[in-house]
Amino acid sequence: MKAVLLVGGMGTRLRPMTYRIPKPLLPVMGKPLIMHVIDSIPSEVDEVIIPIGYKRDVMDEYLKSHPPGRKITLVDEPEPLGTGGAVKNVEERIDGQFLVINGDVITSLDVASFLKFHRAKGGIASISLWPVEDPSPFGVAQLDPESRITRFQEKPKREEAFSKLINAGAYALEREVLSHIGDGFVSMEREVFPKLLDKGMYGFQFDGHWIDCGTRENVIGAHRILMGDDANVSRNSVSGGAAVHPPSVVCDEAVVAGAVIGPGTYISPRCVVGPMSSVEGSVLYDDVRVGTRCRIVDSIIDQGVSVPDGAEIVSEIVSRAKQ
Ligand code: GDD
Ligand code: MG
Repeated sequence: MKAVLLVGGMGTRLRPMTYRIPKPLLPVMGKPLIMHVIDSIPSEVDEVIIPIGYKRDVMDEYLKSHPPGRKITLVDEPEPLGTGGAVKNVEERIDGQFLVINGDVITSLDVASFLKFHRAKGGIASISLWPVEDPSPFGVAQLDPESRITRFQEKPKREEAFSKLINAGAYALEREVLSHIGDGFVSMEREVFPKLLDKGMYGFQFDGHWIDCGTRENVIGAHRILMGDDANVSRNSVSGGAAVHPPSVVCDEAVVAGAVIGPGTYISPRCVVGPMSSVEGSVLYDDVRVGTRCRIVDSIIDQGVSVPDGAEIVSEIVSRAKQ
């Protein structure tokens, strides 16, 4: 069985960081998003196919230097083809029932149970579903009592959303779906799903957690979900009366000296946070240096950035990367 991983987006909402690395390589708890997704794919899948154009070289290099221990095939997608077009583009590699997974989601979805559900329902397609308060930035599905999807709409206006259940970005599909995808740029959600409704499309709900890492808030939120409730602090990393409030992570080889680390913060290896500074609800990637008397709140500080003494950074992504 094959799985197609959708990672071809340009990560526009995470710029300027995504000028440096593609969104799927952004670390969450020190592990690239894409590796969280690959690790969730059951062993029944013998090949993970990744159509990719944007920053393919960076992805290629990463996978070569960190082999994930399973067969991964990168396929060229020189111009973005959309979520449907990208799948159509790898059609000849798909040999039967297959999975399609959005590569920017951190979730507890058990893919093996999801596949079992799909087979039991016997529809042409199944999609994973997650409840949210505001469904308008997502694809929205309406279910009947047998879990059959009766309506699907991508990114409805908030007042027009007919359900709180959103497309969680994993699909189990019969090969026949490919014949419903046209050529060129095709959106799976806007153009293909509506055509599948009368052929039997089912929705799978699950417990645990789910978050789309497309925005600053959600990349921080994904860390927050995975770090649990404790303060996980490498003992060698904190000195000079520093205070670390849970939940938070301070990695090995980081130096937090006389600073306050607030809840929801992840400090990567080799970061230095100077005296009288505070960092709260934020993610510091590797080798960040924060001077003295700085205040960092709800922000992502990209690898290698130096934050000057006294700086105040609130709700920002700070990166040295340029277009
Ligand atoms: N290969 C390829 N080509 N991949 C693409 C392309 C493309 O042209 N466009 C987007 N992708 C990838 C992105 O990298 C991402 O992993 C995934 O497809 C979904 O695209 P996003 O741009 O992140 O879409 P979204 O988050 O606004 O909405 C999608 O995901 C939601 C759940 O996270 C939709 O599938 C919604 O229906 C869904 O609720
Ligand atoms: Mg997304």
